[in-house]
Amino acid sequence: MAKTIAFHLQKGGVGKTTISGTLACESALNGFRTLLIDVDPQGNASSWFLKDAPLYELADVLQGKCYINDAIVKVPSLENLYLLPTFGIGGNLKTYSETKLSEEPFVLQDLINELVKSFDHIILDLSPGLGRLERAAIIACDEVITPMTPEVFSLDGLEIFIDELSKIRKNLRSDVKHSRVIINSFDERIKQHREIYGAASNGNFIVYKVPVDPAFRKAQELSKAPQLYVESFKNLHRGMKVKTLEAIKLIDNDIWS
Ligand SMILES: Nc1ncnc2c1ncn2[C@@H]1O[C@H](COP(=O)(O)OP(=O)(O)OP(=O)(O)O)[C@@H](O)[C@H]1O
Ligand SMILES: [Mg+2]
Repeated sequence: MAKTIAFHLQKGGVGKTTISGTLACESALNGFRTLLIDVDPQGNASSWFLKDAPLYELADVLQGKCYINDAIVKVPSLENLYLLPTFGIGGNLKTYSETKLSEEPFVLQDLINELVKSFDHIILDLSPGLGRLERAAIIACDEVITPMTPEVFSLDGLEIFIDELSKIRKNLRSDVKHSRVIINSFDERIKQHREIYGAASNGNFIVYKVPVDPAFRKAQELSKAPQLYVESFKNLHRGMKVKTLEAIKLIDNDIWS
C-alpha cells in the first residue's frame, strides 16, 4: 500500500512543485514505483516532465470521462516515475473544482484508494490557495508537508495553514499528519534565514533546509530530473550543489519510513 504525501502551503511560489517533483524523482531513482499527481490547475509539474500534452488528464478521471489507467503516463526520461497530469490550457481542473467538486469532496480520496495498491509512493503537488480542491487533496493523503521560503510572510502563512488544517481535520473527519516543514531556497549565510529556521523549529516541527540552487530551474527548463541534470553537467562543474542533493536525500530517507 502506497504512502501518500501532499506538499502544501497556501502561499504561492515557495517551491511546492520543485520540492514535490524532485522528491518524486528521488523516489523513482531509488527504485520505487512512484506516482506524481498534478493537482494544480496551472499544470507546472506536468509541463516540467512532459513535453507533449497527453490525451487525458486528472480532471477527466475525476469526471468519469476516462479510466485512471488511461490518464496515467510514464515519465519518458525516468524509470519508475509516473504522472497523473493536469494541463493548464483549457482549465478543466479549475472548472471542475469550481463547479462539481462541492458535491463530491471525497473524490480524490476515492481516487487515491484505487491507486495505493499499484504504487509504492504517491506524491501530490497542490496549487497555492486553500479552496475545495486543496482540501479534497489534503484529506486524501496520509501526510501533508509544508514547503516555505525563509521569509516572514511564509512564516505567517504557516501559522494560517496550521489553523486551517485543524478545521479541515475536524470538518472532514481527517487525521492527516502535519509534522514536517521544508525551508526552501535557504542560505545559511543570511541571518534572517537562520532566524526563520529557528522560529519554524520552535513549533514542534521537523524542519529541513533546501539550499537555493539554480539547478532546479535549469532542470525544469530541460524537462529533467534535477538529479539527472547534475549527472549530465558534472564534467563541466556546473551541476547541482552536493549539499542540495544531500538535503533532498535526507528528506526522502525520512518521509517514506
Ligand atoms: N531551492 C531553490 N533554488 C532556486 N530556485 C528555486 C528553488 N526552489 C524553487 N525554485 C524556483 O522558484 C520558482 C518557484 O518554484 P515552484 O514553482 O516550485 O513554486 P510553487 O510553490 O510550486 O509555486 P505555485 O504556488 O505557483 O505553485 C521556480 O522558478 C523554481 O525553479
Ligand atoms: Mg507549483
